[in-house]
Parts: sequence; structure tokens; C-alpha cells
Amino acid sequence: MDKIVIEGGTPLSGQISISGAKNSALKLMVACLLSDEPLELTNMPNLRDTRFLGHLLENFGVEVTDGVGRLTLHAKTLSSTTAPYDLVRKMRASFNVLGPVLARAHKAKVSLPGGCAIGARPVDLHLNALKAMGANIELSEGYVIASAKGGLKGADITFPFISVGATEHAMLAAVLAKGETTLNNAAREPEIVDLANCLQAMGAKINGAGRSEITIEGVEKLGGAKFAVVPDRIEAGTYALAAATVGGAVRLVNVRSDHLGSLWPLIAQAGAKVTMDEDSVLVERHGTPIRPVDVETQAYPGFPTDLQAQFMAMMCLADGVSIIRENIFENRFMHCPELSRMGANITVSGREAIIRGVPKLKGAQVMATDLRASASLIAAGLAAEGTTEVGRVYHLDRGFEQIEVKLGNCGARIKRVKE
Ligand code: UD1
Repeated sequence: MDKIVIEGGTPLSGQISISGAKNSALKLMVACLLSDEPLELTNMPNLRDTRFLGHLLENFGVEVTDGVGRLTLHAKTLSSTTAPYDLVRKMRASFNVLGPVLARAHKAKVSLPGGCAIGARPVDLHLNALKAMGANIELSEGYVIASAKGGLKGADITFPFISVGATEHAMLAAVLAKGETTLNNAAREPEIVDLANCLQAMGAKINGAGRSEITIEGVEKLGGAKFAVVPDRIEAGTYALAAATVGGAVRLVNVRSDHLGSLWPLIAQAGAKVTMDEDSVLVERHGTPIRPVDVETQAYPGFPTDLQAQFMAMMCLADGVSIIRENIFENRFMHCPELSRMGANITVSGREAIIRGVPKLKGAQVMATDLRASASLIAAGLAAEGTTEVGRVYHLDRGFEQIEVKLGNCGARIKRVKE
């Protein structure tokens, strides 16, 4: 298994181009199931998760044509309506094929995704939304068996709390339902807006994406489209935080700085300088100490849970005590013991972590525990004294395109070692 080896202590200096957003790309890919015409996605990141979803879609009879930064998906006919356990268990986002297949073929059988390292992550909101649209849903032997005789029907759905996945799933199903669907208490993430824009390019009628109330007027048929994936705000935030943690100056390009409105003031508060122009963001810290900043994760436009671990890596080196509260997932502090192996002083109590800053971290052998946690270990390793080895990097490869190349171009001493 590959590992990443880092020699820490060198400031970062250079430019990083941000890839298309993984979390958006995965839902856009699924949208191809709604039409018998091709969907061409550009600004596509090349990641383990996107390649994996490509295989899953092939299982449904989708013709997948891969190019550089481009992916064409053609679901001319659906040769299957079943997503087996082996394909769903490896990636939760693949569960989102249920709604579109059900909407198009009026039946679907999709394995339940199961929990994952960051928490139980149930799918009750997804299933309740489909039920409200008239789907008959049975759970049997780990599978969701869904049918909708005559097709799905528009419904008035109120989510009890905000879920990105359930909002996207309901939207993917409602575009082909008969009549109007209203989604109340919907998630407002940029990935929701991206999905709505793509579905609209395919002929869907959606209003209000990016707000808490979304209305969808079902149409009979969707067509093909060409659509560019939105830049990845989590990747951009990860590199911005790495620059602030390690020190130096990193310019991010192909970035939507407006999608990280909650992050920039916090980075500035922590002592780094953030300069924005029309299409780039420069993050710098030259020798000024890192100041402690308290943070809590929230649904968008609040501070993203997917940047919590990376923010914590920075706070490990702060000049004082900070508190980080995780409100979205119940078990998203697995990076804490790994950071502690590098000399960090962190106490976790329920949903809160108290971080007492230390003057320096020391290189160590650590283990990536989930996708975003891996990125926090890389940033900590770059800031630490000595050598850090990050194992289980397959987590990283799920969601960060060429991380060692992008950081290496900024002077980081980082390499991938095959074992
Ligand atoms: C998506 C992102 C993930 C991000 C998260 C929150 C993708 C592929 N993943 O995950 O990177 O961290 O949004 O921004 O886009 N929940 C339920 N029942 C449900 C659905 C969710 O209880 O039916 C709970 C979850 O366990 C979690 C919370 O709701 O505690 C929010 O989860 P959700 O917004 O749905 O996250 P995902 O869509 O899974």
C-alpha cells in the first residue's frame, strides 16, 4: 500500500490550481441516469471515487468515455436497475443512484450503504423523501427495494434537519416526477446549486437551489448537456489552511472564493493574510505566530465539517488554547490521536476538542483514517520537524487529485512511496 513521506519544516511557496469538486462531480455523474442522451462533464477531477462511480454506472449499462478532465456518460438504456452491496459499500455517494433509477425505470434495488468511519450516517431522510413522492419502499437483506407504479409524484417535503445527500437525492428524483415538489429546510451547499444548474441544462425546472426552499416542476423527459463541475471548495480550503499552517505564500487559482466565506475571516483571525482578486486567492504567513481561534462546524454557509480536521492541524501550533466543535458528524475526531502522535495536545470530550497549542510538532508515523483527516496529517507533517509517514493513503486518493504533486510544486518535500 502506498504511503506519503514528508520532510517537514519548509515553507510553501507557489501556485495551486483547484480541481473540480469531488462532492459535486459524484452527484452530477449520477444525473446521467435520468436521460437517454449523453451528459458531458468538464473540469472533472480524476479521483478514486469518480473512477469507482464510473464502474458502478457501467453496471447499469451506462457508456462511460473518459478523457483528460472530461467525462461523457451515456445512459441510452438501463440494462440493470440493481446496485449490489459490493459496489455501494465502498462509497456512500453511490446510494444516490436509487432516486434517478427509480424515477426513470419506476423500480430500483440498491444496497444500503452502511456506516462509515465518521459515524452511522443513516439514509432515513433519503428514503422518506422518496416515499413522500409515492415510492413503495421495502428493506430486505440489506437492500432497498423501491417501486413506483406509474412513476413518482411531486410532493411537499420538509426535512427535519439539513442533509446535503438527502436534498440532492430528492432533487434527482423529483425532476422526473409528475407535478411539483417542494423541498423545505433544504441544504444550501454550492454542490446543490451545481447539481440544479446541471439538471436545468438537461431540461429540468428547478427554482431556489441555494436557498432553504427549492421547488421542482417535474418534466417528462430530460435531454443531454455539457456542464463544467464547480471548483472544489474543500480542496481550496485545504490548501489555504496548509499555507497558513506551514507558512509561506500560496496562490490558489481556478477557485470560487465566495464558496469559502466562512473560512477566510477565521484564517485571518489566526494570523495569516488573505488577499483576493477576481479569480485567485493568495494566502500568506511569514513568521507571525498562529493565534488560537474557536470554530464550530455548521451546514453551509457555516464552517464546513470537511475542513474541521485541517483547521485543527493549524490550531495544534497556535499560541494558546482553542476549541473546535463538530456539529455535523458524531465521530469525526479520529485524526486527534494521530495528531497527538506528532506532539499535539488535544483533549476530546463528546463533540468538542480542546487544542492546547504547542510550539512545534514532530514528524511521526501516522495513519490516514478518513479522507479529510488525511489532509490534516499532511499539513501537520509539512509543518513538523523531521520525517512524517502517512499510511493508508487510499483515503487521500479518494478525494484529492495529485496532492503530492500540487504541494511539491510549492516546494514541499513530499513524495509517494510504493510498498
Ligand atoms: C455530504 C458530503 C460530505 C460532507 C457532508 C456534510 C458528499 C459525497 N459528501 O455527505 O463530504 O461532510 O455532506 O457537509 O457530498 N443524516 C441522517 N439521515 C439521512 C441523511 C443524513 O441522519 O438520511 C445525518 C448524517 O448522519 C449526518 C448529517 O445528517 O450526521 C448530515 O449529513 P449529510 O449532510 O446528509 O451528509 P452527506 O450528504 O452524507
